Amino acid sequence: MQTIGVIGAGQMGAGIAQVSAQAGYQVLLSDVDLARAEAGKAGIAKQLARAVEKGKLQPDARDAALARIEPVASVAAMGRCALVIEAATEREEIKRAIFATVGKVLGADAALASNTSSIPITRLAQASPDPARFIGVHFFNPVPVMGLIEVIRGLATSDATVAVIEAYATALGKQMVRANDAPGFIVNRVLMPMINEACFALGEGVATIRDIDLACQLGLNHPMGPLTLADFIGLDTCLEITRVLFEGTGDPKFRPAPLLVKYVEAGWYGRKTGRGFYDYSGETPEPTR
Ligand code: 3HC
Repeated sequence: MQTIGVIGAGQMGAGIAQVSAQAGYQVLLSDVDLARAEAGKAGIAKQLARAVEKGKLQPDARDAALARIEPVASVAAMGRCALVIEAATEREEIKRAIFATVGKVLGADAALASNTSSIPITRLAQASPDPARFIGVHFFNPVPVMGLIEVIRGLATSDATVAVIEAYATALGKQMVRANDAPGFIVNRVLMPMINEACFALGEGVATIRDIDLACQLGLNHPMGPLTLADFIGLDTCLEITRVLFEGTGDPKFRPAPLLVKYVEAGWYGRKTGRGFYDYSGETPEPTR
């Protein structure tokens, strides 16, 4: 089986490494240093242990998947990878710096993919070693649970590169959708206006946090209400993507809700900071207003 490189061992990168290893790929996992890459692997071990406890995974399948994940100190080790997926922090300068380093080792036929949720693929491709072999591969959180991969073709992406991702998505057992390189691609183009509108509704006093979420959860049969989902994704990320939609299209319909901006300015980013629209300090999340 091929070797895949995953750059970034946070929530998304670890999820991508996990599902790739479970699909049979050898995985090299890197982060800013070896310790973070190892911490990413330890998190995956916990996820897989839980699946074993629930009887959803055999212990030998867990051991085999874990054995296929090798934390590495840097991307310099990724020269033998057929596909390298970058899932680092969503900041363009960080991704550009990573691509410059990857460029020094990437194999002549290897593809380089970015899990960016919002940065234009055609622009990012300019920082990659070969724009024809560069592509957007957008996973959804939690990666092991969500069945979709959104594939975004830059202007220069070749058919061969799309085929590499097609085969990879199939091996992972995920459905693939193709999006053109437009702000927010498909999912975030549709999702972020909903979350943003829920923030407007809350700010205008239309309903409480609980009722906005319950209305969408039960009235639309969504697994989570929009404000719970915003906390889950991270309000900073939601605001960042909404700004990309607003700036990328110039359309005022995408302007960020003032309440969303305020929460981010307050450092209330959602689950990851312990407070967003809900307070996560107790046993169960409590609405904050
Ligand atoms: N990692 C792995 N598995 C997880 C998980 C995680 N972080 N969180 C939950 N799961 C698994 C559980 O183990 C459980 O598995 P089982 O059915 O085999 O036992 C299953 O998911 C259901 O979990 P729970 O019973 O604990 O809880 P829920 O039924 O409430 O499901 C949820 C949790 C799957 C997160 C569900 O609420 C959901 O689907 N929410 C919507 C998530 C969503 O919309 N994600 C996309 C965000 S947008 C995005 O990622 C794009 C980015 O660019 C912003």
